[in-house]
Amino acid sequence: MKSFFHVQDIGDLQAALAEARQVKATPFAWKQLGENKTIMLVFFNSSLRTRLSSQKAALNLGMSPIVLNIGQDSWKLETELGVVMDGDKSEHLREAIPVMASYCDLIGVRSFAGLTDRDFDYNETILRQFVEYAGKPVISLESATVHPCQAFADLITIEEHKTQKRPKVVLTWAPHPRALPQAVPNSFAEWMNAADADFVITHPEGYELDPLFAGKARVEYDQMKALEGADFVYAKNWSCPGISRPQDYGKILSKDMNWTIDDRHMAVTNNARFMHCLPVRRNMIVSDSVIDSPRSLVIPEAANRVVSAQVVIKRMLETL
Ligand code: CP
Repeated sequence: MKSFFHVQDIGDLQAALAEARQVKATPFAWKQLGENKTIMLVFFNSSLRTRLSSQKAALNLGMSPIVLNIGQDSWKLETELGVVMDGDKSEHLREAIPVMASYCDLIGVRSFAGLTDRDFDYNETILRQFVEYAGKPVISLESATVHPCQAFADLITIEEHKTQKRPKVVLTWAPHPRALPQAVPNSFAEWMNAADADFVITHPEGYELDPLFAGKARVEYDQMKALEGADFVYAKNWSCPGISRPQDYGKILSKDMNWTIDDRHMAVTNNARFMHCLPVRRNMIVSDSVIDSPRSLVIPEAANRVVSAQVVIKRMLETL
């Protein structure tokens, strides 16, 4: 595997899930695979789960992880081409990427959407430069439009907890005080469309996900109707993807607290399990009563981030 951005990169989903089960059962069985190999984990943005789970996965495989926080541990980096570098950015990605790549075998990159220029974000301008200039396999650790390690962990979690072959999975928008990227819902939709699930997306009007990710998923604007009979409720905020009104890209169109997942919402489901990628704003996205209930999967979901990262890194090591 040369890159991990989209569900297609993992190949056959059932084979990937079987491998995830194997990795989870015997995490240290491939300790020799990463011997004398280094993974560079580059963070342009904050992280708790991705940073720790990627390091843990690499250590399980016998690798040496190096974590670099851009702008804190390093020089501030210029990401746009053709600019006069007379500001506070001392180094360009054009040099920094090949230098970082010369010190490692694999690279993971976290680089969130800026949410001001849709083309810059949806062309994955920063991630593409890593692919072009690194010459090493690249993993998105949440880039402008995708968060595949999260979506893979979400699918593993659903597989572990589903009680029927084809569960109803509902991705619901929920309110948040800040404008957030679309990477998590984009990837979740992409992976659910590829999985064997009755997948429904619900959000206020104007929040339609890019069709590249929403695909064939059913969109239901009435949140309560969407949640009826759900086996899994996946809550997430995202800002306007700018599909029907490009000028609204990255904006907050609603802060309607009726969309906060609480007991009233869960009552119409099929005793659903609650999911969220974390970090989560309590009593904005989800009520305390729901996230603290035995139906909440947020902790096992986060724990599975090690499993998804380990499968991806393992496959990359096997094809070096
Ligand atoms: N879910 C997730 O990616 O968490 P972090 O932002 O803490 O890495």
